[in-house]
Amino acid sequence: MNCRTGIDLYKRAGNIIPGGTHLLSKRPEIFLPEQWPAYYSRSKGVEVTDLDGNVFIDMSICGVGACILGYADPDVDAAVKAAVDNGSMSTLNCPEEVELAELLCELHPWSDMVRFARGGGEAMSVAVRIARSATGRDRVAFCGYHGWHDWYLAANLAGGGNLDGQLLPGLDPAGIPRSLRATAVPFNYNQPESLEAVAGEHGRELAAIIMEPVRHTEPEKGFLRHVRETADRTGAVLIFDEVTSGWRMNIGGIHLSYAVTPDIAVFAKGISNGYPMAAITGIRPVMESAQKTFMSSTYWTERIGPAAALATIKKMRSHNVPEHLKRMGDFVRKVWRQAADAHGLRISIRGIPPLSIFSFDYGEISQEMHTLFTQEMLNRGFLSSKAFYATYAHMEEHVCDYERAVREVFKTIADAVEKDSIHELLRGPAAHTGFKRLA
Ligand SMILES: Cc1ncc(COP(=O)(O)O)c(C=O)c1O
Repeated sequence: MNCRTGIDLYKRAGNIIPGGTHLLSKRPEIFLPEQWPAYYSRSKGVEVTDLDGNVFIDMSICGVGACILGYADPDVDAAVKAAVDNGSMSTLNCPEEVELAELLCELHPWSDMVRFARGGGEAMSVAVRIARSATGRDRVAFCGYHGWHDWYLAANLAGGGNLDGQLLPGLDPAGIPRSLRATAVPFNYNQPESLEAVAGEHGRELAAIIMEPVRHTEPEKGFLRHVRETADRTGAVLIFDEVTSGWRMNIGGIHLSYAVTPDIAVFAKGISNGYPMAAITGIRPVMESAQKTFMSSTYWTERIGPAAALATIKKMRSHNVPEHLKRMGDFVRKVWRQAADAHGLRISIRGIPPLSIFSFDYGEISQEMHTLFTQEMLNRGFLSSKAFYATYAHMEEHVCDYERAVREVFKTIADAVEKDSIHELLRGPAAHTGFKRLA
């Protein structure tokens, strides 16, 4: 397999774009250093064509979770093309944003008002600003990953790797004002006592409690209710980050399945199938505080994002897309489990079915095993990693082809474990875990 053009282009990028790309999760080093095709010329359905004309089936994170319907969905793209033809920008506002706000409030009956942004981390910053504006307080308690902004990375100013264990290890707070120290305090998912400790120390100073309702593990019974009660008791705004969890298990935020409502829910990439769009949805008394603070941006008013989001949500709803995502996710989990059992490999599987992740349980050599998996799957025509994010474009036939390849590759890996030769089979370095500065 020749992926030279993309590999060479990425070397050029490293000289002119600090960090090579603008998203950690798209760095080739995260998948397969020095071998990953890195760039695409075309993406359609589940197929991705690289710069050398190789066509891969994407069985990995599918646009980092941004394309729930699959790449270049015809219905969403038709809505976007119409928005382009009718002018994506004007001195006047686009009516689609009002329709979208109404649709989001209809789908989340606890909510009354919506603000829009375009990126997930950006929308989370808007939500935090609204919470601080509403409460007049500075400090926030959080768990999980919520983007790159100052309010979040401030957690690491306190030292002790506060953000380690919150999805992305190794985030340096370089460039974050030291005066933000102790303004973001972590707690641990499914550990009510860790939230209690934060609430005990900072309760009356908390502007917000921020979390994903679900990520890699389901909430234990009563955990979300406990978080809700803690927010009520302390007067903090409860913010559910649904940037990744939303729209996959049901139509809307995954919190709808748990009958615990936040004060604000934030939606982004999953909402608009590959076009920038983000929404901050909330209850009126909190959202009205957006008027006390200045938040305003030109491209928050363009038309493509709302048009894409409306088309995406309508299609997810009319085609019952979450059911399909769950089915494909369950199918892939079965493939991993059966292939691992067939070859005596120890693996763990976690995540909700549409966002499934497996890992080899072999201690130190696990990361080399993951890298070998990606390398061997690439040779067989699949973009693959430990994670599989299901899309509406994944069909059973794709998973059946994937299954054949996984069985072969798991056998190769099992044999290599037996012979202690994983390292020798790798044609480049092992994939990176988390964030680090590139040479
Ligand atoms: C839960 C969560 N919040 C926030 C973000 C940041 O979104 P974006 O990359 O669009 O800024 C992500 C991205 O992966 C996410 O998963």
